[in-house]
Amino acid sequence: MSTTTFFTSVQDQLQFVERRIREQAGEEHHPDLRSALDHLLAAGGKRIRPTLGLLVGNMLGAPEEKLITLGASVELLHTATLVHDDLIDGALLRRGMPTLNARWSPAATVLTGDFLFARAAKLAAETDYLPLMKLFADTLATIVNGELTQMFSARGVIDRSNYYDRIYAKTASLFEMSALAAAMVATEEEETRVSMKVFGYEVGMAFQIVDDILDFTGEQSAVGKPIGSDLLNGLVTLPAIYYAEEHPEDPDVLSLPNGGWKDTDCVQRLVDGIRKNAAIEKAMEEAREAVSRALSALEDAPACPERVALENLAKFIVDRKV
Ligand code: IPE
Ligand code: IPE
Ligand code: MG
Ligand code: MG
Repeated sequence: MSTTTFFTSVQDQLQFVERRIREQAGEEHHPDLRSALDHLLAAGGKRIRPTLGLLVGNMLGAPEEKLITLGASVELLHTATLVHDDLIDGALLRRGMPTLNARWSPAATVLTGDFLFARAAKLAAETDYLPLMKLFADTLATIVNGELTQMFSARGVIDRSNYYDRIYAKTASLFEMSALAAAMVATEEEETRVSMKVFGYEVGMAFQIVDDILDFTGEQSAVGKPIGSDLLNGLVTLPAIYYAEEHPEDPDVLSLPNGGWKDTDCVQRLVDGIRKNAAIEKAMEEAREAVSRALSALEDAPACPERVALENLAKFIVDRKV
């Protein structure tokens, strides 16, 4: 059992994060940038990454101002990657609203994403802590490298280690960064920093595994983005990997590495098969294992309400429908 009450303990701080983000496109900027930022903010989003950072930082006694700056920075970095990702994927729906690329030209969308990256970097610099800037830059490089690898050399690939590398790059790296950055502004203690980094990593891996499961089982209205698109894009995620391991002779499975994912009938048969198969439950079990490793990383953390909230955040990851 878990609840989403972990959000409530940082609700006020999240309001400051929102304000900090909104301030990033002021009067001196093109009105379209301001309206894009307003559109993106109004669409909401779970704010799970800043929440993670705020809870870790509060637990370790970090200065609030730095946590808010970090939260705004990480959420803007995340939003920028989504703006570019949706353009790359041709996705028209995000957070239940039309994407920027659904309304604007690719050029305007790319530039808006760039603007958001620039503001995320500026906010990171405002923490006045050089190692954090390096962490942000390295994380962005990891994400971009992951997207390129996925684009050029991951389509149709049925391979576990390739899968774990991909989900680390595109998702877990940012969760890891968020938790580690909060720990870095709180303490010099290496052991604590590493524990929080591991916590963020494991939660992030679980988060993406569940995202990949929801691509098979979710409701578009709840998830707020298109469902069933991974395999159609040639992305063989964990449920599909389990299915392939169980049905190595299935002609549809065999065709995947040779471009079978471009055949919509083949993909439809696979999706139907995977939905009915134990593959979904096995993938979920793997996400639960990651969550339990995350909980172990909290074992030495101080007993306090923030720690309980972090435990609930980790459990929420595997229960979520959105
Ligand atoms: C979406 O992230 C991209 C993934 C890494 C799966 P979220 O599911 O956190 O998106 P928002 O911010 O809540 O919209
Ligand atoms: C999004 O990857 C992660 C990044 C932006 C790096 P996906 O393409 O899998 O995410 P969704 O499913 O569109 O949210
Ligand atoms: Mg996408
Ligand atoms: Mg996805």
